[in-house]
Amino acid sequence: MSFSWHTKGTNQDPKSKVGLNKKNESARTRMEVCKALQHIIEGGRTIDWIRAEKSQWISTPLHRELLYGTTRHYLSLQQAVTELLKKPLRDKDRDLFQLLIVGAYQLKYTGIASYAIINESVNACIVLGKPWARGLVNAVLRQLQRSAEAAQTEKPKDVGSEQDLALTNASSDHPAWLQEKLASQYPNRWQALVIANNQRAPMTLRINSTKVEPAFYKAKLREDDISFTETKMVETVVLDAAQNAETLPSWLAGEVAVQDLSAQLAANTLMALLPPHIAEPSILDACAAPGGKLFHLHERLSARFKTHQLFALDNKQKRLNETKIIGTRLGHSKDPRLTMLCADATKEDCCGDLQFDGILLDAPCSGSGTIRRNPDIRLLLKADHLAAHQDLQLQLLHNLWHRLKDGGTLLYSTCSIFEEENDQVIKKFVEAQVDATRVSLQLKYGSATSLGWQLLPTEKNTDGFYYAGLAKAEKT
Ligand SMILES: C[S@@+](CC[C@H](N)C(=O)[O-])C[C@H]1O[C@@H](n2cnc3c(N)ncnc32)[C@H](O)[C@@H]1O
Repeated sequence: MSFSWHTKGTNQDPKSKVGLNKKNESARTRMEVCKALQHIIEGGRTIDWIRAEKSQWISTPLHRELLYGTTRHYLSLQQAVTELLKKPLRDKDRDLFQLLIVGAYQLKYTGIASYAIINESVNACIVLGKPWARGLVNAVLRQLQRSAEAAQTEKPKDVGSEQDLALTNASSDHPAWLQEKLASQYPNRWQALVIANNQRAPMTLRINSTKVEPAFYKAKLREDDISFTETKMVETVVLDAAQNAETLPSWLAGEVAVQDLSAQLAANTLMALLPPHIAEPSILDACAAPGGKLFHLHERLSARFKTHQLFALDNKQKRLNETKIIGTRLGHSKDPRLTMLCADATKEDCCGDLQFDGILLDAPCSGSGTIRRNPDIRLLLKADHLAAHQDLQLQLLHNLWHRLKDGGTLLYSTCSIFEEENDQVIKKFVEAQVDATRVSLQLKYGSATSLGWQLLPTEKNTDGFYYAGLAKAEKT
C-alpha cells in the first residue's frame, strides 16, 4: 500500500483556523496521551511519574483508558504500525507514531466505531500542529481497520484455540527477556502469568475499621447498588466493576481505601508475628509512602492495643506529603501514635536511636507482580535491573536489622514475582546475619516458597506479591 505523506491545502496556520474549542476536546486528549506515551517510551518515565508531574495528561477516564490500554499493548501495536509505515517517521514526528498507536489501540480493543476513531485521529494531527500528516494517519489507520475486521471474521472455533490466541496475543505484548524469565522461573505457569499480565486488575477496597464496622460499610455498598465479592478478610472486598473511588460511599469521610488484596495481607501478617507478650508495640514501616500498608497497620494496631507507636519512614518527602494527605482523609494523620520520618533507610542514623519491636520492610522492587496494574513496567523494566534491586533490598535489610529489638520480627515484602528480589534476598541475608532466623508464614492466599510466601496474579483477585518473616534472636 502507498501513502500520501502530505494532504493538499493544509499549509494554513492550523490553530487559528480550527482553534482548541470544545469540539477538539477529544483530539486534545489524544494529543496529551501521545505526549505521555512519548515520555514513557523515549524518556523512560513511569505512569506514576506522569500522574505526579503531568497530571493533566491523565486527568480524565478517557486519558486513563487510552494511556493504560496503549502501554499494555504497546509492543504488538508498535509492530503493527511499523509494518504499515513505508519508512520510519523522523525523530521530530515521533508524536505521530504515538498518535497511530492510540488509534490502533482503539481499533483493536474498543468497540468505538472505526470512522470516529479515524476522524478523531486525523483531527489530532491539527492539534499537534501537523496537518500535513492527516493523509498518512488516515491511510495507516484504515489499513489497520481492515486487518482488525479480517481478524474478527477468523474467530477461533473452540476453547482450546481461544486460549492459544490469548497466549499469542499476550506474548506479543511482553518483551522477549521478560517472557523467558517467567518461563524459566515458572516452567508450569508462565503461560497463565503472561495472560494474567494482560488483564485488567480488579478494584479492591479496604474498609477503615477505625471509622466504620465492615458490615455497615458493606450495607452501604449494597444500598448504592455497588456489587462486590467478599474475601477471606472481613475488611476487604473486591468490586465486581471498577469505578471512580470518589464515587464510593463515604469516600470523603475516609471509611474506605483502595488497596490490592495481596498488599492487605501485610498488616495482618506482621500483627501475627509480633511477640505475644507485647503491650505497647513500637513499629517501623521502613518504606512507607504512599501509606497503603502503613494505614492498614495503624488500623489493625488500634484494634488490638490500647496504645502503640508507628513510625513511617521514606526517603522522599514529596511521597510522604502525599501519604499525609491520604492519612488526613482516613482520619489518621493527626494521630499522635503515628510519626513520619524522611530519611534514607540504608543509612545507620535513619531513625536516630529508636529501636522497634516489629519492622515492615516493603522494599522498592521491580513491581513485576503488578504488571497488569502498572502496564508500563513491561516497557521499562530491564533484566539487569533485578541485580540493582537486590543490592538495595539487602542494604535496607542489613541496616534496618540493627533497629530491631532482640526478639523482634521483621516482615520483608515486595510486589515482585522474581526470586532475585525474594527468596534469594532472604537466603543471602540469613546466611550473613547470624542472629536472624526465618519464620514460617501461612497466609490466606498464595503458597509457600522455599524461604517465604508468594502470591501470583494468576490467583483470583491478587497481585503478585512476596512475604518473608525474620526473627531476631534474644540475647542470652
Ligand atoms: C514499594 S514502595 C512502598 C509502598 C508502601 N509501603 C505502601 O504500601 O503504600 C517503596 C517505597 O520505598 C521508598 N524508598 C526507596 N528507597 C528508600 C530508601 N533508601 N530509604 C527509605 N525509603 C526508600 C520509595 O520512596 C517508595 O515510597
